[in-house]
Amino acid sequence: MDTGFTVEQLRAAATDAVRAPSLHNTQPWRFRLRDGGIEVLVDPARRLPATDPNGWGVRIACGAALFNLRISLAAAGAPATVRLRPYPAEPDVVARLVPDVPRRPTPAEQALHAAIPRRFSNRAPFWPDPVPADARWRLAEAARAEHCWLELLIGVSAVNAFAEIARSAHRVLERDPAYVAERQEWVRSAPAPDGVPVASGGPLGEPQDLLPSRGFGGLDRAPGRDFEPEPLVVVLGSPGNTAVDQVVAGQALQRVLLTATDSGLAVSMLSQPIEVPSARERLRLSLGRFGTPQMVMRIGYGQPGWPTPRRDVDEVLDLFSFQPQVDMKYC
Ligand SMILES: Cc1cc2nc3c(=O)[nH]c(=O)nc-3n(C[C@H](O)[C@H](O)[C@H](O)COP(=O)(O)O)c2cc1C
Repeated sequence: MDTGFTVEQLRAAATDAVRAPSLHNTQPWRFRLRDGGIEVLVDPARRLPATDPNGWGVRIACGAALFNLRISLAAAGAPATVRLRPYPAEPDVVARLVPDVPRRPTPAEQALHAAIPRRFSNRAPFWPDPVPADARWRLAEAARAEHCWLELLIGVSAVNAFAEIARSAHRVLERDPAYVAERQEWVRSAPAPDGVPVASGGPLGEPQDLLPSRGFGGLDRAPGRDFEPEPLVVVLGSPGNTAVDQVVAGQALQRVLLTATDSGLAVSMLSQPIEVPSARERLRLSLGRFGTPQMVMRIGYGQPGWPTPRRDVDEVLDLFSFQPQVDMKYC
């Protein structure tokens, strides 16, 4: 068995990892090779102090990137064993992956890997067609496989009650000028390797909308092109809410998103009710579930769209800490 991962394996897996979602497409991650292990680190320069003061969003994003790394390595026949937060004295190191016994990828791993480049946030209105029961089951199983739960809001009254919580959280956030200014800094009207392109931001919110839009958009909506009247809204939750739980939730989020993509479904994320503590508590109580809500998603059948840009993979690799294993007898 190999004693460690190579730089080539790191680069290939990180190329998949950077396709993960992140708040405002900040891409707050770095990757390095240390003693034969691949490590995922928070990039402190890419935190959002006004939007994400406690680092929840950074840990969700790094967890999602970690899931892509795992799937990428498994699909290449080199699965990894993962340790979360491996060094208590270095909390910015989110995870360390070391080689497990090499094996052929399973069909499920291959399908999730193939979904990585096709996944994107689709903020446009979806078709009214309901999501079939077998697809709902697959989504819930994806969360469960990563030690989390997925609550599907069933019925108009559950969705309306959630929408009320989401709209009031949105109003709270919009009252904070620092939050609004930070979002504006990440909206891109010209090509850029990070941030949210206006064309991907979805249509401008309108008073009749059930769910609040984050406000990246700028696209006018054709008359009558409203959002689907009965969206499938799902809440992803984790058993606890420590820093490690949030990285676990990020992995579960990405597994749910890739499972949705593989099932031909479109997804947009709504995290306003997670970001406002009182709204998150109301949401938790309304679900009656043990644990903590970590993300809300709207899922359905969307129109075609396109993935958003990412920085070049070499910008997120710390290769300086790579020490080639030199055979001392030749020195
Ligand atoms: C923690 C987190 C919170 C997010 N919250 C929202 C949100 O409230 N509204 C939204 O439209 N997108 C949200 N997103 C999606 C990001 O904006 C999106 O992932 C990013 O712009 C990259 O685009 P992509 O998902 O198309 O790759 C969130 C993503 C993460 C990881």
